[in-house]
Amino acid sequence: MTRLFYGAAFIMFVTVFSVFLYFSIKAFSINPDTVTQAYSYPRHHIVLIPEEINNDYWRLVEKGARAAARDFGIALEYTGPKQADQEEHLKSINMAAAAKVDGILTQGLSEEQFTPLINKVVQKGIPVMTVDTDAAKSDRISYIGTDNYYAGILAGKALLADTEGEIKVGIITGKFDTNHQKLRVQGFKDAIREQNRVEIIAIEASQITRIQAAEKTYKILQEHPEINAFYGTSALDALGISEVLEYMGKSQETYVIGFDILPETLELLEAGKIEATVIQQPYEMGYKSIEAMVQVLEGKAVDSINHTETRVIRQGDLPLNRNEMIEAEVQ
Ligand code: BGC
Repeated sequence: MTRLFYGAAFIMFVTVFSVFLYFSIKAFSINPDTVTQAYSYPRHHIVLIPEEINNDYWRLVEKGARAAARDFGIALEYTGPKQADQEEHLKSINMAAAAKVDGILTQGLSEEQFTPLINKVVQKGIPVMTVDTDAAKSDRISYIGTDNYYAGILAGKALLADTEGEIKVGIITGKFDTNHQKLRVQGFKDAIREQNRVEIIAIEASQITRIQAAEKTYKILQEHPEINAFYGTSALDALGISEVLEYMGKSQETYVIGFDILPETLELLEAGKIEATVIQQPYEMGYKSIEAMVQVLEGKAVDSINHTETRVIRQGDLPLNRNEMIEAEVQ
């Protein structure tokens, strides 16, 4: 009888204790699938390394990434060269890998320099994703950004649609040796080939700075005064081009198509000082790249290519819709 009593008491104790333990564990743990905000600790440490941290375009990517980092409980670090410099850029990637961060988001600027490093980092077990610029031959897990060749095609088609007669084009490209800039030029060349009234006369690199975009525009116009159209392939190029055209009194007679919708670019478009610009989605690139990295870190599959939207806008397309305004607001 006593044995039966102790037996029953023991079973009861074990049951009550197990129930208590189960609910305690449940109460003090976070289910990462259900919690999307207000984390008390970061789930992962992710680093975003662009080619130039203080560039307004990259501040927009950062802004999107920070919003996603808040939503997904990520510790996000934004670091890299102050001014575009590939050696510095590669060094930053190496340092992030050495610090054993959970994931790296960066540009795949060139196959020669970036692919071996990306592959080395991925082999170490740190996932790398490319943003804005792809190194398609590398082992990067995924690419999030513009289809840069297609963006170049769009720019070329816009120039064909917007102009008549003989067009002599000068191109200011961000850099000669980076994947996205090369693709934007190639797409443009392939698009204009359709009509032989359009010819590319000169191409110079701005090193993605506005000042060099202006210097190179001036140089091109000195050497080829017949040029009556410019194509700027990185965010600050059209600003430099337009400045020089104004200065030389050639703004009216010269067609300009640029890239991106930074506030000043929109002002130029509004004022009729440039004719068109190719819109990218830097905020969305930042947001989506964090989202994709979180998925990978939590064992889920992501598509290897995730293109963000690209289109050409002209003065008549202003004002932009709300989503596009987010992409244009630097602050
Ligand atoms: C490109 C970025 C580049 C920036 C430079 C943008 O159009 O997508 O890769 O860093 O221009 O201003």
